[in-house]
Amino acid sequence: CIAAAESNRGSIECVLDAACALELIHCFSLVHDDLPCIDNDDLRRGRPATHIQFGEAIALLAGDALFALAFETLLGMDAPSERTRRAAGALAAASGTQGMVGGQTVDIESENAQTDLDTVKWIHARKTGALITASCTIGAVLVGASEDQIATCARFGDQIGLAFQIADDVLDETGDVESLGKHTRADKARYKATFPALIGVEASRTLALEAQQAALAELGSFDGDTKGFAVLAAFASERTV
Ligand code: IPE
Ligand code: MG
Ligand code: MG
Ligand code: MG
Repeated sequence: CIAAAESNRGSIECVLDAACALELIHCFSLVHDDLPCIDNDDLRRGRPATHIQFGEAIALLAGDALFALAFETLLGMDAPSERTRRAAGALAAASGTQGMVGGQTVDIESENAQTDLDTVKWIHARKTGALITASCTIGAVLVGASEDQIATCARFGDQIGLAFQIADDVLDETGDVESLGKHTRADKARYKATFPALIGVEASRTLALEAQQAALAELGSFDGDTKGFAVLAAFASERTV
């Protein structure tokens, strides 16, 4: 969100509250993702998952509270009301059935099921990509970028979102618990629909790098500082943490 503002010659201050709102939604999604009824993971960021530390009921409520706090934070922003309205709409759409929740739903429905690459792309674009894309478009909207630039931010976000989740799938197979702060080999154990499960680790890495290249190809059309976007594109596909 901040990098999107910078790429469009906007100030960081304009988007800080929105960036916090995005982070709050992201945290909510992880708290619920780790619950026994979803991924049943007990470790997150090197610490006990919320439901392990505080119990399932509190983890459920913490997620609910983070969701509400995200919109409270976003709507409390000091920004032109039309921009705030559009940002709130984008955040809601990216979080709900058309976005993260929709992706999470098909993710768990696809456990132990026959899937294909199109389905996995569909899941990843929503469970992970939607919020990343919204981060990029909201940053652009709030600094008054043109419709063309907002659309470019969306295409950039779609590509790094895909790269990020492919890398997440790969790291589940190749990473280690110390650097990731979460248990690995969890996707295979739950027969998750992932890129490596369908096409293997090497082909998955190649697709992530292709998505990175597609994202980087969008950067030429911005007239602001795209260093942040470039770092994010590289991080999304090449990260080891
Ligand atoms: C989670 O995807 C996507 C969310 C909406 C939270 P994963 O289930 O693959 O994420 P990790 O591996 O638990 O971090
Ligand atoms: Mg999950
Ligand atoms: Mg998970
Ligand atoms: Mg994962």
